Amino acid sequence: METVYYKIKDNRTENTAALEKAGEIIRSGGLVAFPTETVYGLGASALSDTAAKKIYEAKGRPSDNPLIVHISDTAEAEKIAYTSEMYQKLAERFMPGPLTVILPKRDIIPDSVTGGGDTVGIRCPINETARELIRLAGVPIAAPSANSSGKPSPTSALHVKADLDGKIDMIIDGGECDIGVESTVISLCGDALTILRPGAVTEDMLREVCAYVTIDKAVVDPSLAGANPKSPGMKYKHYSPMANVILLDGNIEAFIDYVNRTAGNRDGVFAAENEKDKFGCTVLTVGDGSDEDIIHQLYAQLRHADELSLDNVYIKAPATSGEALALYNRLIRAAGGKVIKL
Ligand code: TXA
Ligand code: MG
Repeated sequence: METVYYKIKDNRTENTAALEKAGEIIRSGGLVAFPTETVYGLGASALSDTAAKKIYEAKGRPSDNPLIVHISDTAEAEKIAYTSEMYQKLAERFMPGPLTVILPKRDIIPDSVTGGGDTVGIRCPINETARELIRLAGVPIAAPSANSSGKPSPTSALHVKADLDGKIDMIIDGGECDIGVESTVISLCGDALTILRPGAVTEDMLREVCAYVTIDKAVVDPSLAGANPKSPGMKYKHYSPMANVILLDGNIEAFIDYVNRTAGNRDGVFAAENEKDKFGCTVLTVGDGSDEDIIHQLYAQLRHADELSLDNVYIKAPATSGEALALYNRLIRAAGGKVIKL
């Protein structure tokens, strides 16, 4: 199949015409990759069993791993799920934005979307292109990240093209994603909520709305996910480049010293712009080295590591709290669950 590629322009009329066409593709059961503020999504009609199945096929995704359903207005949740008072509070404070709330599903959502389960993840992205596409499609859009299963998530349309060209109907290029890691995923139980996947909406932010916030243990330790985790995605190898990710826990001096003693000439290191001269091996720069900048560059640099055919990539372990928790969660999975203490 030929994949149509459309780049968002300054011209609003042209964009709307392209997004109308994309909406038509979705309505008629096709697949469209589109930008969001977190990562690119691979969208299909969330009301169509056959369309959702095409997503699993294009990505090579295990069929029991549920898809997130994207809406353009928080009130639409009521049509596809049984909402609650806590959902309303969370929606008011964090939506549109990088938060996915898992709720009991209504029958209108086919089983293929939820991996056979009776709950559905609801997300209302803040990215304008994403919202306009959902509005124009006229149906909620089921969308996982638009990568081949097991590869790092795509944060640019070129990443999507590299993985899915020829397998999907259309790619909408809306530039680089603002955040760079996937949304925070939470499950609700009455007044309490559990973070299943950390993202830009942090534990502290959620506490402003909800008194009982817990973090699933598998978030920092993938070995605790077990055979039947609360979120099926937890059990799959994820965010994984071909190079080995080696996570080192220590201060910056110990990190530089370890990398320079250990790394060979087919190895690389994540480093801030102003630290790059301190390393003897290939440097993959991550902005100013702040958690926010590393998050923004993470997936692009893991993909770049593979383009350079690196064997190992050394990365300094981030904190396990605040916004850094989202980064730690992705890195510990990319590193196969191991951290080396310096
Ligand atoms: O930021 C994001 O959330 C992106 C963009 C495209 O919106 N989407 C995304 O989807 O990351 P995906 O499919 O790559 O990751 C969704 C994660 C998976 O780990 C899945 O297991 C979990 O959320 N999930 C989805 N629905 C669920 C449900 N009903 N119950 C438990 N976990 C669920
Ligand atoms: Mg994904």
